Amino acid sequence: MLKKKIDYGREFIETHLTVFQCPKCHKGFIEVIGNTMICQNNHRFDLSKKGTIHFPDHHMTSDYDKEMLVSRRKMIQKDLYLPIMEEISLLIEQETSHDYIVDMGCGEGSFIDRLIHDFNDQPNYLGFDLSKEGVQLGSDFSEEGFFFIGDVTNMPFRNDSITTLLNIFSPSHYDEMLRVLKPGGQMIKVIPESFYLKEMREVFYHDNPEKQSYSNENVYEKFKKDVNLVKEKHLTYQFPVNAADYEDILMMSPIHWGASEQAKAYAKAHPFSELTIDVKILVGKK
Ligand SMILES: C[S@@+](CC[C@H](N)C(=O)[O-])C[C@H]1O[C@@H](n2cnc3c(N)ncnc32)[C@H](O)[C@@H]1O
Ligand SMILES: [Zn+2]
Repeated sequence: MLKKKIDYGREFIETHLTVFQCPKCHKGFIEVIGNTMICQNNHRFDLSKKGTIHFPDHHMTSDYDKEMLVSRRKMIQKDLYLPIMEEISLLIEQETSHDYIVDMGCGEGSFIDRLIHDFNDQPNYLGFDLSKEGVQLGSDFSEEGFFFIGDVTNMPFRNDSITTLLNIFSPSHYDEMLRVLKPGGQMIKVIPESFYLKEMREVFYHDNPEKQSYSNENVYEKFKKDVNLVKEKHLTYQFPVNAADYEDILMMSPIHWGASEQAKAYAKAHPFSELTIDVKILVGKK
């Protein structure tokens, strides 16, 4: 019989139970009964039909909805971020051990999907996000990795358990990241540089030049202050934008959130043919 998403999820948590810890009491999990993970203090977390788990106990939401994440997936799968993914693969390849790779704030999960095809030895992949819709989309790759709803500030992992943390355009919590990383483990953080999605900012904020610029100075300084920065790389390229993809391009990032209806109409009516990707990749070691 064909395996279902929930079967992949159950197999993953059964096999890798010792990497997890309860986000409520921070104790280890002792068993999986049926489709439920149970911690030492009897806190229970159920697998959904999609083979995902909802870990945060307080109500937290993400503004990243399905429509936006589907547009994002389309563009990622058309190689919008390919040079970034290739760089990440190289960084992982250079490490001697990579048994657990976690994409924090994974969105719809395509970065995990891509990495899976880059390696012969089989690290274990996990992706999590606060967006339930993102994690549901991620579960399309449940044969390849385990996806769950989780919070970067309280990860359901034991201390010193993860070899690589990916943190791609998503929020960080460095104390928590250093807690879960194995000694010698690495975190790879991708942050926008000043010209990132510049054409998109220009069309959505053509009447508000202040909003057209972006600086990552604070994010960069905080990383350097809190983490042992061992490598950094600035990557800039132009991605050709086809007319057929233009709507997805406009929808795939949070930039349009602050734009007025008028500005959105202006953006639609003024398509650009190239989009600038300008990022810094930061590598920190524990
Ligand atoms: C710009 S998106 C990036 C998604 C994905 N890494 C990508 O590049 O396609 C930022 C993501 O961070 C997630 N996020 C925001 N706060 C979070 C938190 N506290 N814990 C986990 N994920 C969070 C959002 O739901 C969103 O999916
Ligand atoms: Zn517990």
